[in-house]
Amino acid sequence: MAYIKIDGGRLLEGEIKISGAKNSVVALIPAAILCDEEVSLVNVPTISDVDSLEEILSFLNVDVKRHNDEMKIDSNKMINKPIPASLSNKLRASYYFMGALLGKGHKVDIYFPGGCTIGKRPIDLHLKGFKELGATITDMDDHFIIEANELKGCKIYLDVASVGATINIMLAAVKAKGKTIIENAAKEPEIINVATLLNSMGAKVKGAGTNVIEITGVNYLHKALHEVIPDRIEAGTYLIIGALLGNPLKISNIIPSHIESLIYKLQEAGVSTLIGDDYIVVRRSDDGYHPIDIKTAVYPGYPTDLQQPIIPFLTQCDGISKVEETIYENRFMNIPDIVKMSADIIVRDNRYAIIKGKTPLKGDRVIATDLRGGASLLICGLIADGETRIDNIKYILRGYDQIVEKLQSVGAKIEIVDSE
Ligand code: EPU
Repeated sequence: MAYIKIDGGRLLEGEIKISGAKNSVVALIPAAILCDEEVSLVNVPTISDVDSLEEILSFLNVDVKRHNDEMKIDSNKMINKPIPASLSNKLRASYYFMGALLGKGHKVDIYFPGGCTIGKRPIDLHLKGFKELGATITDMDDHFIIEANELKGCKIYLDVASVGATINIMLAAVKAKGKTIIENAAKEPEIINVATLLNSMGAKVKGAGTNVIEITGVNYLHKALHEVIPDRIEAGTYLIIGALLGNPLKISNIIPSHIESLIYKLQEAGVSTLIGDDYIVVRRSDDGYHPIDIKTAVYPGYPTDLQQPIIPFLTQCDGISKVEETIYENRFMNIPDIVKMSADIIVRDNRYAIIKGKTPLKGDRVIATDLRGGASLLICGLIADGETRIDNIKYILRGYDQIVEKLQSVGAKIEIVDSE
């Protein structure tokens, strides 16, 4: 199995260009099958989650053409057939085929999605939305058949502002009869990106980015060319790396307002940043950093996906920092390995992490347990003394486009080693 080897402690200098957003593209690809003509997506990142969705499209006989960062999707010859567990459990976002196939063909047969095991991650709100639109759901131990003679617009209130449920209901509702209103909708930038694609195909979606989204059903969706927004979590990950090792580091092709909560927190700790229209320059401070407290929240709050990546930074702040994870029940799986690398961290009730700094980290052999946890170990490896080996790197590669190459290009000593 391949592993990542890092020789830590090197300052990083130059520019890192951020790729298209994973959590946007994984919804845009299934959304494209709603189109009655061809959809072209650009700024598509090279990550294994995209490959897994492409496999599902090919299985459904959808025509896919990829060239550089462009993906053309034509679903005119699509065959709507049961999607087996072996395909759906490769990633979380396979659940967007529920909304998309229901919206397009009024039927979907699929298994419970996969993805990182960072919490219970139920899909009850997705199913509730489909039901209220008029679908019947047969749930056979994680195997779902969802079908409807006709989908009819209605008012749906989400108990939790779930990203996945908001997008899935939008997908199911774009071709439904009449008006659907989603209340307490999630407001993440990825939702606006999906609504923009739908509207450029001729859908009528209003209010994306606010907590009330209104969708008026249409019969036909025409061809569109659409750009995936920059990945705010990838941008945030490199910004944290820059605060630790930037000499300086320029993070470009980003929308700085999408990571404002992280920027504020880093500034509170004493990180200085130069913010341009679509870039941030960050430099490591020799004067040390102050400890900070972080509580994860839905957008525009501090993102749960940047909770694990900021832990290595907090180990380098002088004093006690506290992190509270409010979205997922199991998002501290990375901590034992960071402690193994000499950090002083205590986890309480799987909800709080108390980090005492500053502690120099030492390279060690560690295992990625999930995507963002893997990224946090990689950051530890970059700042640690000596060599770090990270196993189970498939988690990291599912969401970070060419992470090893990007870091090498700014001076990191990092490589993927293929082993038996
Ligand atoms: N929830 C429910 N019922 C539902 C759906 C969600 O109780 O039907 C709960 C979840 O258990 C969780 C909370 O609501 O506690 C938020 O979940 P949400 O549905 O918003 O998350 P998601 O759609 O499963 C997406 C991203 C995650 C990201 C979250 C929050 C994708 C494929 N995944 O997940 O990304 O953490 O939104 O922003 O878009 C990652 O990239 O590492 C990642 C995990």
